[in-house]
Amino acid sequence: MTKLAIIGGSGLTELDGLEIIDEINPDTSWGKPSSTITVGKFDDIEILFLPRHGKPHTIPPHKINYRANIQSLKDAGVKEIIAVNAAGGITKEMTPCRIVIADQLIDYTHSRIDTFFEENLNEVTHIDFTSPYSESLRLQLINAATTSNINVYPKGTYAVTQGPRLETAAEIIQLERDGCDIVGMTSMPEASLARELDMEYACCSLVVNWAAGKSDEIITMEIIENNLKEGLGKIHQLIAAVLRNK
Ligand code: HPA
Repeated sequence: MTKLAIIGGSGLTELDGLEIIDEINPDTSWGKPSSTITVGKFDDIEILFLPRHGKPHTIPPHKINYRANIQSLKDAGVKEIIAVNAAGGITKEMTPCRIVIADQLIDYTHSRIDTFFEENLNEVTHIDFTSPYSESLRLQLINAATTSNINVYPKGTYAVTQGPRLETAAEIIQLERDGCDIVGMTSMPEASLARELDMEYACCSLVVNWAAGKSDEIITMEIIENNLKEGLGKIHQLIAAVLRNK
């Protein structure tokens, strides 16, 4: 069976129902990943779990060693990555606690190391990134959601911002004009690095707040944490459903 890993985001530092078999502590030529990687069994299927913000949750999005994270999963034999992340909702369907399986992204990050193809190359390499997320993995998520009655939004454009601050209201208006539906800080360069290493990668985003200026409320950590708490149960169910369909 294809080896699958989950990269956990804010609020997802552990996976419910995962029977832990091992904890590995890999090193790569790019450095160490965000934390040890848990090897576990979920309904008898072996999966790997890596919390991208570390254990405990202390590494902000712009400080994550994305190369080490993706390389260490590649070295462990992983072929498919489901990346879980929290996002702000921009367009009207993207309501708090909704799960979105994005099909496109726009990268607004800067100053992040974003490629494996930098030095000691035999030739200059450009990956195709027309569709940044794996269609086959997206379909696995969407089908699992349908068969288990979990409400997910099956497409959307993810704006990846630098953070760690949230956006201004004017920035969100600009992102909406650009065609973005949700906004988060971690899908890049994670998605393109996975593509560079020929791995299937898809995102499962949980909307945890209305993006800046999209509601009358100030965005507080309390709002984000409450929505995370409410929505994470559905993320766990969705992952379990994907694995059951394997
Ligand atoms: N903006 C950027 N990243 C986020 C947000 C947001 O509103 N909510 C959760 N992650």
